[in-house]
Amino acid sequence: MVMEIKSVILAAGKGTRMKSETPKVLHKIFDKTLLGYVLDSVKSFSKEAFVIVGHKAEVVTEFVNKNYSFAKTVLQTPQLGTGHAVSMVCPQLENFDGLVLILCGDTPLVREKTLKKFVDEHIASGADLSVMSTIFENPANYGRIIRRANGALEKIVEEKDATDTEKAVKEINAGIYCMNWAKIKPAFSQLTSSNAQGEYYLTDIIEWANLQGLSVQASVLEDSDEIYGINSRENLATATRLMNQRKLHELMANGVTIVDPASTWISQDTEIGSDTVVFPGTYIEGSNNKIGKNCKIGPFAHLRGDVEIADNVKIGNFVEVKKSKIGEHTNACHLTYIGDSELGANINIGAGTITANYNPLTKVKSKTVLKDNVKIGSNTVLVAPVTVEEGANVGAGSVITKNVPARALALTRGVLKVIEGWVK
Ligand code: UD1
Ligand code: CA
Repeated sequence: MVMEIKSVILAAGKGTRMKSETPKVLHKIFDKTLLGYVLDSVKSFSKEAFVIVGHKAEVVTEFVNKNYSFAKTVLQTPQLGTGHAVSMVCPQLENFDGLVLILCGDTPLVREKTLKKFVDEHIASGADLSVMSTIFENPANYGRIIRRANGALEKIVEEKDATDTEKAVKEINAGIYCMNWAKIKPAFSQLTSSNAQGEYYLTDIIEWANLQGLSVQASVLEDSDEIYGINSRENLATATRLMNQRKLHELMANGVTIVDPASTWISQDTEIGSDTVVFPGTYIEGSNNKIGKNCKIGPFAHLRGDVEIADNVKIGNFVEVKKSKIGEHTNACHLTYIGDSELGANINIGAGTITANYNPLTKVKSKTVLKDNVKIGSNTVLVAPVTVEEGANVGAGSVITKNVPARALALTRGVLKVIEGWVK
């Protein structure tokens, strides 16, 4: 890809069927928003992205501004259709003469490499406008790809406007487009809404381009799961399952043992080294998780994002880890919470240990630091901010509120009293 690329993401629709106060594109899979997946899939090759917002625009804008510096939102009110939505960015792209990639904010399964390939095919084909299509056994509700006898792309017809013959077509519009912007831009001031839904259809740009004598083509997507769209909570669950299966396949192919794929959930933004074994009931969500080689994770472990685990680490049952680094050969095998922490190598964390990282009065989160070779006795509370220096030990049942020097023993336990014959 040599031409400059800008992306437009359609996200103004209401998402009525979600029955939610949250805008559809801010619903989450593995703690990352649907829109976040789409923005991440274009960010490596898009110079800029425009997200078209309408329903709950303020909330979506806040999300985009806070998390994606290469993207900005453009307001569409009222929402008069997908073609109208794209026309909202025309002023922003007035002098742009690179490629514009258009996609939807509610299709989180689309892969970066698929989009790159699509753009490459667009360039290689020499077309002015490309649309991504796929084949569905049940094409209901999608726009149908209508081709001429020689296979050339003629137009896209929406289900509601389609004749019976057109409805029988199984090649559908995936809703992803790539275009030489300067050539296609004039279409957006010429679209009309004379169709069954009274909307300005983006799909009409195909017929428009043909009439102008521009060249159009459709690239067929093989894995149609990638354009799976979210309209309901059922769809959200299905997309989560598809995304998870994809991730587990990839991990297993790279030498990770997943003991029970049916009960293991691992987010897309998780890297795991070879020979690590993930036991049943493990849930790994969020972004930026890196797990090393030869680790044992679970059963029933919960990793919540920004977790960096070195090689040969054990994270056992009912252990929750969030925003923490864990050094090699460190073990936390049972019933533990590790949050906002930095753990060195060769540490043993006894069962029931908790890093008390959050002060609910000040709402401040603080850090726990455990240096190499530290041993923490069972049922310890480490009240952050706190540091336990190299090789120090903490006795079981302690509440640690002060830093512990190297190789010291820290203990806050009450003195054991044994009263002989007390029961009598
Ligand atoms: C659209 C396509 C259809 C294609 C399908 C793929 C059109 C006319 N039809 O249909 O050919 O098969 O996608 O999923 O484009 N949106 C706005 N503003 C609007 C209207 C929609 O931002 O005024 C956004 C929606 O939030 C959504 C996307 O555009 O993210 C698609 O809109 P939707 O109404 O779902 O289009 P479909 O009817 O599914
Ligand atoms: Ca629609």
